[in-house]
Amino acid sequence: MATVFDFNNKTVVVIGGTSGINRSIAESFAAAGARVAVASRSQDKVDDTVTALESAGAQTAMGIAFDVRDAMAVAEGFAAIQEAYGEIDVLVSGAAGNFPALAADMSVNAFKTVIDIDLMGTIHVMKAAYPHLKRPGASIINISAPQSYLPYEGQAHVCAAKAGVDQITRTLSMEWGLEGIRVNSVVPGFIDGTEGAKRLAPSPEVLKGLTRSIPLGRLGACEDVANACLFLSSDQASYISGTVLAVDGALYQRGSGSTGEMMGHMLRAASASKK
Ligand code: COA
Ligand code: NAP
Repeated sequence: MATVFDFNNKTVVVIGGTSGINRSIAESFAAAGARVAVASRSQDKVDDTVTALESAGAQTAMGIAFDVRDAMAVAEGFAAIQEAYGEIDVLVSGAAGNFPALAADMSVNAFKTVIDIDLMGTIHVMKAAYPHLKRPGASIINISAPQSYLPYEGQAHVCAAKAGVDQITRTLSMEWGLEGIRVNSVVPGFIDGTEGAKRLAPSPEVLKGLTRSIPLGRLGACEDVANACLFLSSDQASYISGTVLAVDGALYQRGSGSTGEMMGHMLRAASASKK
């Protein structure tokens, strides 16, 4: 992919970078010439991604398998990245888990699982990266979701977790700003072909309704999100910090309305049929 941004000699780390949106972000930084490191739970996905990053044009690429819920493993992973590549210029933190479920039907552990991956995972990643960040100059991007500010039925766990992620973004942009570290969130809307979109729109009918509700009239592409991450991490964005940038085709302006209602209806029908 042609890119207007140059990340030659920059070290970029993408956590959860082995599939979907985050992998596309990692590949876009690779195409812009960066040294790219990715991490996720599956060693197979990590290995496959490293090969793809090398083909995409990365100066060099590496990957580590860890679970963001394990703070110690995350810290060891970042130490290994620093040893191989030196200071980190760009950190993208995007590991997440989601499933639609009504709060009344969800176990406490189900709720906690999403909090542990999305919210605790984010703070584990940011704290582990902190000693290794280039200062001044580092850019951190947390990958958030519309659930951060739009309530969706069947998404209480994700809404709580992603709202927390964006508040971490805002707070740490102040705490780390004086060191020259920028912290922003990027909020993908519904992104075509991804695991997240498949889970929230499990049938063609729901997908059609959902697409209709987006003011720009189409689902997003992974590259739409990746382009925003390249810009936010570039020198051209050097005065942008503490912001939550929606890349959502104006979905936010319309709210969760019919999509949330449709999901609530489907989940209530499924729940009733089990009783
Ligand atoms: N509805 C209700 N509860 C569910 C559920 C669903 N669809 N899927 C999982 N859970 C519950 C489990 O029953 C379990 O609770 P319990 O111990 O009380 O039974 C809890 O959630 C944890 O499930 P488990 O399968 O052990 O978690 P995991 O750590 O192996 O996997 C998930 C985490 C569930 C988030 C899994 O879907 C995942 O790995 N997702 C990553 C990919 C993804 O979600 N991509 C989209 C990103 S937007
Ligand atoms: P995806 O393909 O499922 O990607 C999730 C990534 O996170 C994978 O690389 C996965 O790899 C990793 N991961 C999951 N749990 C992990 C854990 N506990 N520890 C370490 N890594 C873990 O999902 P996606 O749909 O592209 O979503 C990517 C991001 O965009 C998420 O933050 C999501 O909330 C956000 N988002 C997506 C959409 C959308 O339309 N898809 C909309 C809004 C926001 P392993 O399985 O190997 O761990």
